[in-house]
Amino acid sequence: MRLDKAVSLTGMTRSEARKAIAAGRVSVDGQTARDPGAQVAPEQVRVDGGEPVPVGPLHIMLNKPAGVITATEDRRLPTVLDLLPEALRRRELGPVGRLDRDVTGLVLLTTDGQLAHRLISPRWKAEKLYRARCEGRLTEAEAEAFAGGIELSDFTAKPARLEILEASEEGSTADVVLTEGKFHQVKRMFAAVGHPLVALERLRIGCVTLDPALGPGEWRELTGEEARGLLALCGMDEINLK
Ligand code: URA
Repeated sequence: MRLDKAVSLTGMTRSEARKAIAAGRVSVDGQTARDPGAQVAPEQVRVDGGEPVPVGPLHIMLNKPAGVITATEDRRLPTVLDLLPEALRRRELGPVGRLDRDVTGLVLLTTDGQLAHRLISPRWKAEKLYRARCEGRLTEAEAEAFAGGIELSDFTAKPARLEILEASEEGSTADVVLTEGKFHQVKRMFAAVGHPLVALERLRIGCVTLDPALGPGEWRELTGEEARGLLALCGMDEINLK
């Protein structure tokens, strides 16, 4: 990695990093380094003799509020990355799949592209649990329809579990568990059985449940146990724990 890029991982812009290098504030393996383009091992880089540049994978859970989009940048709308501090925004985090702008709840962000890819690939069958509020009274007929695989205009959804938590003519609340995530899938499944959604929140991806201590817009790093659970689920524990 280029030296200026490594220094920027401490939370600086590239131009701030170059200034810090020019000012002699940066060392590589204990020696002051002056060439911003030099190839370096980031774990050997320190600024002002401080902690080494952070390396290794980073996994974050975030409680996405409505109105924020699951993208890394956008000219008009706030993105999930905008909710993180500057230093973390420089760590090349990418979201695991997407939530619609009006959908709230758990978004995972990771620097591990393979993990992100596997968590959304139906092949690895990582469950996604959503809490849905819909119009009208849900019954076991809808739960059976979800379990049988709902036919949508362009594909048939894989069987999904629907657990009704509360149902009345005014509206119903249910948990739904899927192992795939096509465009607007949950909204379309509920609409297909005649119960348009009023609100949708994601509560779990695989073994990682949204931390109830996180308010809308708040985030935290995954614990080691959570990260290991996700890697194991995706057949990556052997690769990553060597
Ligand atoms: N299903 C939807 O319809 N929207 C989402 O954001 C996620 C799942």
